[in-house]
Parts: sequence; structure tokens; C-alpha cells
Amino acid sequence: MTDLLIIAGARPNFMKVASIVDGAAHAGLSSALVHTGQHYDAELSDVFFAELGLPEPDAHLGVGSGTHAEQTARIMTAFEPVLRRFDPAVVVVVGDVNSTLACSLVAAKEHYPIAHVEAGLRCHDFHMAEEINRRLCDHLSTFLFTTSRDARDNLVQEGIPDERIEFVGNTMIDTLLRSADAARERHAAERLGVPSPYALLTLHRPENVDRRPILEGLLEAVYTISAELPVVLPVHPRTAARIESFGLERFLASDEIHVCPSLGYLDFLGLLADAKVVLTDSGGVQEEATVLGVPCVTLRESTERPITVEAGTNVVVGTRPDAIIAAARDALNGRRGPRQIPELWDGRAGERIAERLAEEILELEGAVSANA
Ligand code: UD1
Repeated sequence: MTDLLIIAGARPNFMKVASIVDGAAHAGLSSALVHTGQHYDAELSDVFFAELGLPEPDAHLGVGSGTHAEQTARIMTAFEPVLRRFDPAVVVVVGDVNSTLACSLVAAKEHYPIAHVEAGLRCHDFHMAEEINRRLCDHLSTFLFTTSRDARDNLVQEGIPDERIEFVGNTMIDTLLRSADAARERHAAERLGVPSPYALLTLHRPENVDRRPILEGLLEAVYTISAELPVVLPVHPRTAARIESFGLERFLASDEIHVCPSLGYLDFLGLLADAKVVLTDSGGVQEEATVLGVPCVTLRESTERPITVEAGTNVVVGTRPDAIIAAARDALNGRRGPRQIPELWDGRAGERIAERLAEEILELEGAVSANA
């Protein structure tokens, strides 16, 4: 029997599972890795496996893209026999992507305990697929591992028993701390021909890129900022497609805006570490910027990661061009308060999770042999 069946599907999952795979090995737990195939392009998937030293997945579901229903259903159908084959003690899911929810639903209905890593984050915006995914997954889980203390409050308010929740730190930051030196040594900005200092931009949320007026306003702000500081944009496939279909290429037609395809983990981390400011609608980048001390301007109306605002470098400004430009200027002028590294973001979250699960599995096995 496998101790842990660990699920990964999309780009931000890979950094999180890398730390859990390592933690499991140190704790003497056997683990198997399932890749759902939600992300499949080399630059969104293979490059992460190679750079993070992740093992080849033990099962690859190859589900690909689709509508939410199509993708979720395909993952569920493909995961069910894999789950039965591995028959794990615990299914481990991370984050809030469609793969997280789909595999949790299957595991819960097959009566397997689920460990949700990054539990309890809430932005209270039900228009976001991720908010639906994370909320439902939390309510299906037996073990809820959180990255910050506010997450426990969210979970308890929703009626989740306190004893299921454990504050362990941040697995994505475990991987960042292990990789930061190697990332800087790659000199990604220089290789991409981006002069320093520069601003880094990431955009991929459907709420931002699928609506023409919002995307146009965002690009307009970026165009203005680029006159003061060069901007580099590693462009997500979804965003590239929307810019083309909405005919917005003119906003990127500037020598001060450097557009490149999605980058691998190390190149992106290196670019982020050396950026003067990052403008982003990603969840993970808010956390990475906090730890690296890079001012972060979040292009959303809310964040599920308030710790990055309270302790970190993050300001949440929404999508109005004037607000974005003002926040970017503040960051350039260094108008920011003191910054702290959030509690337990110390590189050891994966170990804590594995140790806790090892204890639980021992107890479970003890109970089974006592009943035999
Ligand atoms: C997904 C996650 C999001 C996460 C993001 C990181 C959900 C609901 N969303 O969003 O939380 O922040 O990943 O990137 O799970 N595509 C490719 N190649 C790929 C994968 C996707 O070209 O390898 C294109 C396809 O046109 C696809 C679109 O990108 O339809 C969106 O991909 P999808 O995985 O559905 O959502 P993301 O926007 O990447």
C-alpha cells in the first residue's frame, strides 16, 4: 500500500508537491505522484519537473484543457481507477486548481482521507473558480494544512473542526528558499535582453484577461509605466490568445515592453528576485514577492493571502489604470513600510506535513492491526 498519493496538475502545484515529495522521503513514507495533465505544454509542466528534480509521475492522466465541467469530469473519471490501483493511506492535494477539487471529490466518495495543503485561504469572491475549488476541497478534507494563522479562523468559522487544522507554513516557499541561489545564477534578465531595473508583469486570470475592457485598461496602465521603467511580460497562453483576439497588440508595441513566452520556474524566480516591482494577478507570486522583498502590486479586487499585505510587500489595487500607475510609482519611490517574513515560512513546511501524516498513518495501521 502506498502511504501518500500526491496530486499535481497545473503550474503552481509543482513547486508545492516538490517539497512534500521530499518531506515524505525524509519521514520514511512511500509516495506516488499523479499528474492530471491539466497543464501539458513543456513550459508549463516538463520544465518544472526537470528544474525541481521531481520524479516522473507514477500516473499521468493526460486530461488537457476544456471548460471547467469538461476538465473536472475528465480528471475525475481518469483518477478513479488510479486511486483504486494505488489504494493510498492518504490522498494529498495542493492549492486550488481544478485538479485539486476533482481528485478530492473522487477520493472523498471512495472514503480515502484527504490532506489539503494550503487550506483555509479565502478571498470571498465566488466568481473565481479557485475560491470554489478551495472551499469545497477544504470541506472534503480530513487534514487541513495552512500557510497562515488567518486560514484557521476562516475554516473554524465555516464549521470545520479545529483538530483537523494544522498551521505548517508554506510549501511553495520551501521550494523557493531551496532554489533562489540557482535561480539568480541563471541571469534571466540579461539573457532575455531586459535592462535593469525593470518591472515584471504576470497576467492570466480569466477575470482580467477574458474581458476586453479590463484587459485593455491593464495594458494601458502597463504602457504608461513602461515609459518610466521597462516592463517584462512572460505571457501565459490564455493571455496571448486574448491579446490577439481582442486586437490589443498595439499596447505591447514598445521597445520598453519585453514580451516572452511563459518561463520555467528558475528563470521566473530569478527575474522576480531582481525586479524593482512586480505587477501580478497570480496568488503565488504575491507570496514569492513577499519572501524576496520585492514590492508587489496585485491587479485584483481582493486577495486570499492577506498575510502578504499585512506582513509582506503586497498592495491590492484592483484593475483601474490610475490606481495601478500610482501604486507602481509608490513602489519605484520606495514608499513602503517595514516588511517581515510570515511566520513559519522557513523552508520546513513539507517536513512538518510529512511528519504529521506519518504519525496519523502509524495510528491508522495500529488501529487496523488491533482489529485484525
Ligand atoms: C490554471 C488554474 C489557476 C492557476 C493557473 C496557473 C484552474 C481553475 N485555474 O489556470 O488557478 O493560477 O492554472 O497557470 O484550475 N493552456 C495551454 N497549455 C497548457 C495549459 C493551458 O495552452 O499547458 C491554455 C489552454 O488554451 C487553456 C488555457 O490555457 O484553455 C487555460 O488553461 P487552464 O488550465 O484551464 O487554466 P489556467 O488559466 O492556466
